[in-house]
Amino acid sequence: MTMAKNIFITIFLGLFKGPVGKYIHVDMSQTWSEAQSYCQTKYSDLAVVNSQKDHELLVAVKTQDLSGWIGLHRDDVNVSLWKWSGEGKMRYQNWAKDQPNNYEGRQNVVRMMSSGKWNDYPQGYYLTFYCYIRNNGFGKNYLHNHISRTF
Ligand SMILES: *[C@@H]1O[C@H](CO)[C@@H](O)[C@H](O)[C@H]1NC(C)=O
Repeated sequence: MTMAKNIFITIFLGLFKGPVGKYIHVDMSQTWSEAQSYCQTKYSDLAVVNSQKDHELLVAVKTQDLSGWIGLHRDDVNVSLWKWSGEGKMRYQNWAKDQPNNYEGRQNVVRMMSSGKWNDYPQGYYLTFYCYIRNNGFGKNYLHNHISRTF
């Protein structure tokens, strides 16, 4: 394979198959909105999970009790529509059994349970949370890491 082809494939895979980013668990109890502001200020956003691979990277940052906020929330207008903080569409889901159930009609955000499964939850609870640092597909670090790994 030529070097050019190799680079092309690496970039292509990086853009379309790569994990969304690096995850961080923040061991501070905050409401979902407070956690969102904290992640946006300090990192990129509350954790976004777009694939099974992302899920595996997310759950790998803790060894037990995976409980905490992730960046999924209901759309303001259409409560059946889930979006990631930063407005991305939900492309992967990992709901616990019988969830989301919007209990009492006030469960607008998502808590990952200790099992790693998702549950819709009221935003005012104080929980620890997961942030992520976004992989910019064309970002210098990302390309650098992948190209150096290829050669
Ligand atoms: C709301 O979102 C759901 C889930 O994506 C969709 O099936 C439904 O058509 C939407 N409803 C409206 C009124 O847009």
